[in-house]
Amino acid sequence: MSDGFSRQVEARFGRGAARYAEAAVLQRAVAWRLVRQLQHLPLPAGPCADLGAGSGTVAQAMAALTPELHAREPLQLDLTPALLARNPLVHRQLAWDLNGGLPAQLQGTALLTSNFALQWLTDPASQLKQWCRALTSGGVLALAVPVAGSFRQWQRAAETSGVPCTALPLPPVEALIAAASNELDLLRCQQLKFSRQARGLELLRQMRTIGADASQAPRLSGAQLRRLLRHWPPGPTTWEVLLLLGRRP
Ligand SMILES: C[S@@+](CC[C@H](N)C(=O)[O-])C[C@H]1O[C@@H](n2cnc3c(N)ncnc32)[C@H](O)[C@@H]1O
Repeated sequence: MSDGFSRQVEARFGRGAARYAEAAVLQRAVAWRLVRQLQHLPLPAGPCADLGAGSGTVAQAMAALTPELHAREPLQLDLTPALLARNPLVHRQLAWDLNGGLPAQLQGTALLTSNFALQWLTDPASQLKQWCRALTSGGVLALAVPVAGSFRQWQRAAETSGVPCTALPLPPVEALIAAASNELDLLRCQQLKFSRQARGLELLRQMRTIGADASQAPRLSGAQLRRLLRHWPPGPTTWEVLLLLGRRP
C-alpha cells in the first residue's frame, strides 16, 4: 500500500467520523472485550498508547473497566485527525501514519493497545513485530484485529458473480501469531468469530457509514454491484477476529 492508500483511508474515515462512534457496534464490543483482558494485569512504568485509536473506543472502555490505566492517559495515535477530534483524550493525541513505524516517544512502552486498526497497514505482520519490540521489559501488547477468513459471504458472492472482491485483504492469523510469539510471551491468543445480520448492500452501507470502505481495488460499476448483490449468499456476515495479549520478556 502506498501513501496514496493512506490518504484514501484517512479521507474515508474522515468522512465517516461524525457517525463512527454510534455505528461502530462490533468495534466497540471487541474493544470492551480487549480491555477486560487488562483488568488486574500488572504493568511496568512507562508510556502507554492506543494505536489507531480513532475516536477513543478503547479509551472509553478503559475509563469504565480499568480506570487506573485510563489515568495513565494512553497516547491516542491515529491517521485521521477528524476521528481524533472526537476523542475525549484531547491532550494526548498524535496524528501519525503507522506505516512509517512508531514515533520515537513510544520506544520503551509499558502498554500498547490496538483495536481494529492493524489490518489497514501495508505490512501488518512486520508492523506488529515492531510494536512488540517497542515494549519495555514486562510491557504488554493487547491487540484485536480482523483476520483472513472474515467476509466469506462477500468473497463467495464475488466468486460466483465473477465480480472482483473489493474487500480489504485481511492478514493471515498465522503470520500475526508468528510475529508476536517471536517477541512476546503470549498470555492469550484466541480467534473469535462474530456475526452480524447485515448482508449485501446493508453491509456495504454500514462500512461506508463508519468510513471503513477504502479499497485498493477499482470501484465497481453499477452493473457489477448489482450482479454481486444478486449472488450474495443468505445468512449473516461473519468476522474472524484475533485477540492477542502478550508480555515482553
Ligand atoms: C476501524 S477504525 C478503529 C478505531 C478504534 N481503534 C476503534 O476501536 O474504534 C480503524 C482506525 O485505524 C486508523 N488507521 C488506519 N490506517 C492507519 C495508519 N496508516 N496509521 C494510523 N492509523 C490508521 C483509522 O484512522 C481508524 O481510526
